[in-house]
Amino acid sequence: MKKTKIIKAIDLKNKHHKDLIHQTIKAGQTVVFPTETVYGIGADALNPNAVQEIYYAKGRPSDNPLIMHIARKNDVYLYAKNISLYAKKLMKVFWPGPLTLIFDKKAIVPYITTGGLETVAIRYPDHPIAKKMIKIANAPLAAPSANISGKPSSTRFKHVYEDLNGRVDMIIDGGDSMIGIESTVVDVTNKIPVILRPGYITQEMIESVLGVKITDGSGHKIEDKVKSPGMKYTHYKPMGEVKLLEGTAKDIESFLRKEYEVNQNQAFICSDELAQTIHFVTSKPIGSIYKLDLIAKNLFSALREMDELHIEHIYVEFFPQDHIGHAIMNRLLKASGYQVIKLSNS
Ligand code: TXA
Ligand code: MG
Repeated sequence: MKKTKIIKAIDLKNKHHKDLIHQTIKAGQTVVFPTETVYGIGADALNPNAVQEIYYAKGRPSDNPLIMHIARKNDVYLYAKNISLYAKKLMKVFWPGPLTLIFDKKAIVPYITTGGLETVAIRYPDHPIAKKMIKIANAPLAAPSANISGKPSSTRFKHVYEDLNGRVDMIIDGGDSMIGIESTVVDVTNKIPVILRPGYITQEMIESVLGVKITDGSGHKIEDKVKSPGMKYTHYKPMGEVKLLEGTAKDIESFLRKEYEVNQNQAFICSDELAQTIHFVTSKPIGSIYKLDLIAKNLFSALREMDELHIEHIYVEFFPQDHIGHAIMNRLLKASGYQVIKLSNS
């Protein structure tokens, strides 16, 4: 068990704390810091021993590659090669921001950071503390989401503390994440970019910048919303079983009522609008259906709250897929192991 040092964001202003952070990173230790998407567990991306510490802290298999975080656009040229024109356009428009690009790696990037791959994921985060941390470290920071592997990502200091106190060397308390869902991951090593993970930067936004159609390779299409309980993904999962409900308010209400007769230990994560019509079950409204950004921001936190309440049956509204809704549903489909209950054809 490590003695985890907690530092308030405001303390990043004073020299003593800056020195401490610098020394911690240089010593190959781990520091959790906030970004605009979710919190990350950071360590010197160029130091293999430091990167190993991240995998230990998170309990993550070491063949799952990490994202390298930089704080100057041009640093990408230190770590990546064969950078395409499309990639340059995306960097110009979306960096700093919630977009991770996959490039061919240069030799300086250790294989442990890339999970043994010849490619490297790079992101320039748009968060004052994240930027400051990278500058204080004077090194690129490898940082996966700051959760125990398999659990929902951490969007609040409280989540980080629950998962990682005693497992990392330092945590920077930077309040709540602004976006709440991890960055969009786009592979730019081929002629046409491919989305590997949807996020706040959507396919439409990328296509309108590049002027070409790109591919979504994120694993599933929305049309695949079939019930396939066999597919057990260990991603974004709370302890209880998550099932997604698709249908009208009336259908959902009558379904939940029936389920309630069998098991009262249930809750329903939904939009404010549905929460207003469904009363008998514990509903957890996370934002208006017209403000999907807010739903994204509150989603992981709501899933974690289910654990605090020891909820066994977690039902979640099947949200619209437009814009960030696509990323929301990507996370929810994984959290549920693709268990979708279709209640009507509407
Ligand atoms: O918003 C974010 O991206 C957050 C914050 C902390 O920056 N980070 C994050 O990291 O979500 P992580 O490790 O939880 O997710 C990184 C994703 C994984 O799905 C990983 O497989 C993929 O990026 N990835 C990383 N390097 C890759 C590579 N070389 N090729 C393909 N996928 C890669
Ligand atoms: Mg993650």
